[in-house]
Amino acid sequence: MHTVIEPKILYFGTSVVLISTQNPDGTPNLAPMSSAWWLNRSCMLGLSDKSQTVQNLLRQGECVLNLPSVDLIPAIDRLTLLTGRNPVPTSKAERGYRHEADKFGIAKLTPAPSHAVAPPRVLECPVQLEAKLVRAHPFEAPSSLVALEVAIVRVHAETSILSPQGCSYIDPAKWKPMIMNFCEYFGLGDQLSQSRLAPVFGPAASSPAAFTPAATES
Ligand SMILES: Cc1cc2nc3c(=O)[nH]c(=O)nc-3n(C[C@H](O)[C@H](O)[C@H](O)COP(=O)(O)O)c2cc1C
Repeated sequence: MHTVIEPKILYFGTSVVLISTQNPDGTPNLAPMSSAWWLNRSCMLGLSDKSQTVQNLLRQGECVLNLPSVDLIPAIDRLTLLTGRNPVPTSKAERGYRHEADKFGIAKLTPAPSHAVAPPRVLECPVQLEAKLVRAHPFEAPSSLVALEVAIVRVHAETSILSPQGCSYIDPAKWKPMIMNFCEYFGLGDQLSQSRLAPVFGPAASSPAAFTPAATES
């Protein structure tokens, strides 16, 4: 039996993304978000333009999408209800947000230089995606939301999550994404079955050439 409900949010479970951007003074900002979806080498980010992240992206055009694994939940917790905006927008202050200039420091995370963009990567995240802004799609007024289309220009992956069969493949069994499911954190369960859609190593493999490995790095 189904019933009609009026939920406040429709967060059915997506990966948490830790976005690093560059502030006007050259320092890095860091913000957790989870309204993100992926197509080929692009990502669409759903964000409020009240955030420092959106201000930085619209001005500077670059970011790193750092993907935390489940063991980084404490770091995400330390960043929760913080903003790089100063002064804090009224609507955020009313929800308990406060300004923090040193997001890396307070989160106890380590900035690592990126290759193709100015904002730094988050060393502790097993996946780090350097990206450039392609286009901003504002939601219908009076919403403060904006969908930001970014193109991934470089992919960094920790070697421990790679498949032994091919160094440019992330092994789904080794990757433990942090999932935000209706504002609560979850991990993924075990694999249930094999998909017939574009198996990476099978006969119906789609072109794997899209992701070329970068040189091994520390
Ligand atoms: C786990 C998590 C997921 C979040 N997802 C989003 C999101 O998808 N979109 C958004 O606008 N804010 C999201 N937020 C809130 C932002 O992190 C918040 O607006 C923050 O102030 C942004 O930081 P900034 O102002 O320094 O950019 C999320 C927060 C947490 C902790």
